[in-house]
Amino acid sequence: MDLYEYQAKELFAAHGVPVLPGRTVETAEEARAAAAEIGTAVVVKAQVKTGGRGKAGGVKLAETPDEAQEKAGAILGMDIKGHTVHRVLVTEASDIAEEYYFSFLLDRSNRTFLAMCSAEGGMEIEQLAVERPDALARVPIDSIAGVDRAKAAEIVAQGKIPAAVADQAADVIVKLWETFVAEDATLVEVNPLVRDPQDKVVALDGKVTLDENAAFRHPGHADLVDERTEDPLEAKAKAKDLNYVKLDGEVGIIGNGAGLVMSTLDVVAYAGEKHGGVKPANFLDIGGGASAEVMAAGLDVILGDPAVKSVFVNVFGGITSCDAVANGIVEALKILGDAATKPLVVRLDGNNVVEGRRILDEANHPLVTQVGTMDDAADKAAELAAAGA
Ligand SMILES: Nc1ncnc2c1ncn2[C@@H]1O[C@H](COP(=O)(O)OP(=O)(O)OP(=O)(O)O)[C@@H](O)[C@H]1O
Ligand SMILES: [Mg+2]
Repeated sequence: MDLYEYQAKELFAAHGVPVLPGRTVETAEEARAAAAEIGTAVVVKAQVKTGGRGKAGGVKLAETPDEAQEKAGAILGMDIKGHTVHRVLVTEASDIAEEYYFSFLLDRSNRTFLAMCSAEGGMEIEQLAVERPDALARVPIDSIAGVDRAKAAEIVAQGKIPAAVADQAADVIVKLWETFVAEDATLVEVNPLVRDPQDKVVALDGKVTLDENAAFRHPGHADLVDERTEDPLEAKAKAKDLNYVKLDGEVGIIGNGAGLVMSTLDVVAYAGEKHGGVKPANFLDIGGGASAEVMAAGLDVILGDPAVKSVFVNVFGGITSCDAVANGIVEALKILGDAATKPLVVRLDGNNVVEGRRILDEANHPLVTQVGTMDDAADKAAELAAAGA
């Protein structure tokens, strides 16, 4: 889960990382009040979960409360890379002597953690990484040893942070590591980490991604979810404990086992090319078991997606045999009743397939078509989706 800047900075503050005071508001009038309360010049910052807000006009300086109101009025409702701005952070404006870049992240390809640090931070960091990779230090972090003062000093030196603020920067980095570990993050990024004219080092921006697999040990993290921007279908699936990801096609997909579902997405995308370019509408792995309840819950989520025109149920009977899955489908259609409205293409194979197919044949549900192979079933589902679109 990605956090908003203001949420990231609240976590920073809780772990002793220096940030500037600020308040998050949803109206221009509240922005005025927040600026008056802060009492200095402020910066009004769009709170959206995407980078490049500054360049898009979503970060503006305001010298007075009146100006803060005006700037907030302009930023609220703005669209930044497809994200609507519902909130702005009104925060103390900093005088900036220098802007640095710092991040900790999970480096999956090297199976380790990585620190990235540069004395040349700010809004052009992506460009810097491409054009002058040497200017962006990459320091692997041993997950057991972690980051102590000595390691932080090494990172600071490699990032070429000036000596005058090296100690302070190292302190901040140790605290950012504490944040990274304590919160189970997969990314903690500060861009810019600034040096002000008094040589104080402060995190002016913050980006944090939390590892949702660790949510069980962070009851507080549930409060960080923004229901307004969560996909309603994904939220519904999460509430039912389904492993669902919304995609932007027309063929709903249900399968058992993540690998089978991934390859189902591929065959449907391939088959769709022959049928007007229809694509998979989602990823949904119902796992082992495939009880009627899970099947019904999965179908319910998929049929709730108005873009879905057909559904492909692709099951390989292993521990759960095909007859159990077939009964699950029949029962699920009974549970859903009139809510089931789109054609279903079912491909069963594996353990006890003959009995599974017989059960579906016998039920003879008007929405269900059985197809013997995965490729043919994908083709049929794509054809039905194209016809229904
Ligand atoms: N409190 C502040 N005081 C003064 N200047 C600020 C403040 N916050 C941000 N800025 C300036 O605005 C720039 C952009 O802000 P920020 O980095 O927070 O957003 P961003 O453009 O979305 O960044 P990114 O692309 O890294 O997501 C900063 O590099 C900094 O120069
Ligand atoms: Mg930034």
